Amino acid sequence: MRETVGVVGVGWVGLVTAACFASRGHDVWAMDVDEAKVAELSSGEVTFHEPGLAELVTEHARRLHFTSDMDEVLANSRLLFCCVDTPPTYSGDADLSRVMTVVERLPDDAEHALVMKSTVPSGTGSSIRREMPGLAYVSCPEFLKEGSAVADFLNPDRVVIGADPGDEWAADAVTALYEPLGGEIVRTDVSSAEMIKLASNAFLATKISFINEIANVCEEVGADVTEVARGMGLDERIGGSFLKAGIGYGGSCFPKDVSALKQLAGNSGYHFQLLNSVIEVNELQKRRVIGKLTKHLGSLVGKRIALLGLAFKPNTDDMREASSLVLSARLQGEGAEVVGYDPVAKDAASGLLPSIEFASSPGEALAGADGAILVTEWSEFADLDWPALAAEMTSAVIVDGRNFLDPERMRAAGFAYEGVGR
Ligand code: UDX
Repeated sequence: MRETVGVVGVGWVGLVTAACFASRGHDVWAMDVDEAKVAELSSGEVTFHEPGLAELVTEHARRLHFTSDMDEVLANSRLLFCCVDTPPTYSGDADLSRVMTVVERLPDDAEHALVMKSTVPSGTGSSIRREMPGLAYVSCPEFLKEGSAVADFLNPDRVVIGADPGDEWAADAVTALYEPLGGEIVRTDVSSAEMIKLASNAFLATKISFINEIANVCEEVGADVTEVARGMGLDERIGGSFLKAGIGYGGSCFPKDVSALKQLAGNSGYHFQLLNSVIEVNELQKRRVIGKLTKHLGSLVGKRIALLGLAFKPNTDDMREASSLVLSARLQGEGAEVVGYDPVAKDAASGLLPSIEFASSPGEALAGADGAILVTEWSEFADLDWPALAAEMTSAVIVDGRNFLDPERMRAAGFAYEGVGR
């Protein structure tokens, strides 16, 4: 008999977790307080863009039970995966109010275990344990990337499972769920598991800010950061991934987790200097784009600037902490008119960018524009008819914020091309 899984909070992480466990043959009871969302999911509707997810939900519908009744989940499953979000508060700490609402609804018994997937500061597990001494607690942080979440879930690099003495039964049960997926299982204590998640994201963000600063130096000395990153990445101690220079990281995790770790350290009396710089470099990196435009266009007052891509990265419609938000505000602050195009994020973006114009194709965005910024490296941008597009622009200036296009080809197509660090 396969373990039945309970999931609390059916947002992005919760739904991926529910659908992937269902696809491995587990019955899943997935609970959310949002009754409209439960109704949508029960009728097979997935309202956000995540490749392969809607298909999994449809294919395994008979094993997926969506509900807004916690008692149903408790009656059917002993492992309760907590997947509610922990957005940053004004102070930069993680907001644990949704997690605490879940905890308050759980029985303090020995039959259930709370499996924490939400990203929480180190120490959260022990404080929940103090309040609910009967309930078992397992920290099982999530490392999914948007756009490849289903594949990441089903083929993990590693699965971190943290439990303290007394809760081994629950950690063993979680281990049994993940073992068939392959990937190394890291069994550890709760506090270390919580820290692995924050430290991993902070390290990746540090790698990005580091290569972005190298890119800025490359611009001064005439080196090409893509060559530098290639040469660095072949050293296996460094590794080639997360060395793509650009206009900085965004999304729901890196900005929030870097700030949460910084605050966690600060609250414990330690000043995490390096992370302050990582955050500052990331902020300034977006703003450097404006200088690259003015170098070619002079003042941006009255100029029409096209943003190609609005989502924080390709293959998602997620606009959280997207560079396009800062860029459009900065451009408008300089007096420019902004037109944006994104193949999937238009709806998600329209509420957040009420004062920009939306185009329904790259051609429509670029026609009559004085300059363009490639913000998100959607694959479709590689195959555009760039010479024809350049001819439609008032002045063919492009800032490639992701070093995605071939500079020589773009120059041959008639563009004044600016990359990042090349
Ligand atoms: C990230 C982590 O990778 C994942 O493990 C964690 O669970 C959640 O946060 P995600 O936010 O989906 O995942 O995106 P990711 O693909 O990691 O990219 C994050 C940001 O960094 C994007 O804005 C991306 O454009 C930027 N990035 C990434 C770079 O600027 N350069 C790189 O080399 C890599």
